[in-house]
Amino acid sequence: MSHRQDADTRPTVLVDHQELHAAVAACFAARGVPAPRAATAATALCYGDLTGLDSHGLANLSRLYLPLFDSARVDPVAEPVTLTDLGACALVDSRRALGLWAAAEAMDSAVARARRHGIGLVSVRNATHLGCAGFHATRAASAGMIGLIASNCGGQRIARPPGGALAMLGTNPLSVAAPALDGHPFVLDMSTTVVPTGRIRAAARHGEPIPEGWLADREGKPVTDPAAFDAGDAYLRWLGGDPETGAHKGFGLGLVVELLSAVLSGAAVGPAAAALDGDGRPHGSDDDIGFVALAIAPGTLRSEADFLAATRALFGTLLACPPLHEDAAVRYPGWWEAERAAERRRTGVPLAAALHAELVGLGVLRSDEGAA
Ligand SMILES: NC(=O)c1ccc[n+]([C@@H]2O[C@H](COP(=O)([O-])OP(=O)(O)OC[C@H]3O[C@@H](n4cnc5c(N)ncnc54)[C@H](O)[C@@H]3O)[C@@H](O)[C@H]2O)c1
Repeated sequence: MSHRQDADTRPTVLVDHQELHAAVAACFAARGVPAPRAATAATALCYGDLTGLDSHGLANLSRLYLPLFDSARVDPVAEPVTLTDLGACALVDSRRALGLWAAAEAMDSAVARARRHGIGLVSVRNATHLGCAGFHATRAASAGMIGLIASNCGGQRIARPPGGALAMLGTNPLSVAAPALDGHPFVLDMSTTVVPTGRIRAAARHGEPIPEGWLADREGKPVTDPAAFDAGDAYLRWLGGDPETGAHKGFGLGLVVELLSAVLSGAAVGPAAAALDGDGRPHGSDDDIGFVALAIAPGTLRSEADFLAATRALFGTLLACPPLHEDAAVRYPGWWEAERAAERRRTGVPLAAALHAELVGLGVLRSDEGAA
């Protein structure tokens, strides 16, 4: 496979994916999350490791989610409440529910609305971290629809506008999914910054330098020491990099996410008055996050069979594009994640040995769950 994570040669421990899922679901249930929602949250979190998007997999359990429970920033028994319901669209107050399941329920609600109205939109405020955006968007693709999900990062400010001296926005993930070739939905799933924070922190944990282009210092010069990020001495850069190579497009996409997910729902935004305070270092917390979940049911506009045939033709033609280099076949977003998930369901999910040890230490996994 021609994907960056496959080049990883660090020692791993293979864990059966069903055992992993059961262990993580039990962990969330032990924190008070009702069993069916704990199971959905576990599926969402394990999706990261199953598909290779491991910056947003189990590495985030002890770093992000358990501290959210410990500090009561997540309410394990929250019941989201619908504030406005117009049929095709709704506004929901998530009441600090665990975003891993709440975003999935928002997308399922958008899909149900799209089934009735052709289009469904659920706008969510007061939410918490949703993990991999693509997990939630793919739920619409599995229903034969086009799904879009976006999340802002509440009041977290770690990226500066191009040419700006102050951090104002988060990594603002965006995902669009649609049916494509069998077993391989199209799933564009990305941060709107060059990389998400999880990739920088992973490099810091492994003591490895990061490529130039991910972080910049106060003067805009490249930073290759990932530890500079959590020290508050570096800022994430937007997709596109420099203004000359398209930074305003990445920044613009970040703002699209801020508008659709947080301004629409009434959640916290990065560029609020507080963004102008402080010494310019990254600051703010990712509380009161906003989501938007949008589902479009193509079968209500044209024959569903025609739509599905057209997507198969489109993505099939892309796959037939001759590669520039023999060992790097052309694939579309979501392809490698589907390949990796199918393989890992068969053979086990490789967890970095240090992460496996951490999960054993936390009591999430037993030491006999997994083989080196
Ligand atoms: N919840 C949050 O606040 C938050 C914030 C940022 C990112 N994230 C999540 O982090 C995860 C990783 O984000 P990322 O930006 O590092 O993603 P990435 O750079 O790994 O991938 C981005 C996209 O490029 C596609 N892609 C990558 N290599 C490809 C190849 N060789 N051929 C075809 N397509 C390819 C992937 O399928 C994906 O759709 C995502 O799941 C994202 O939702 C979450």
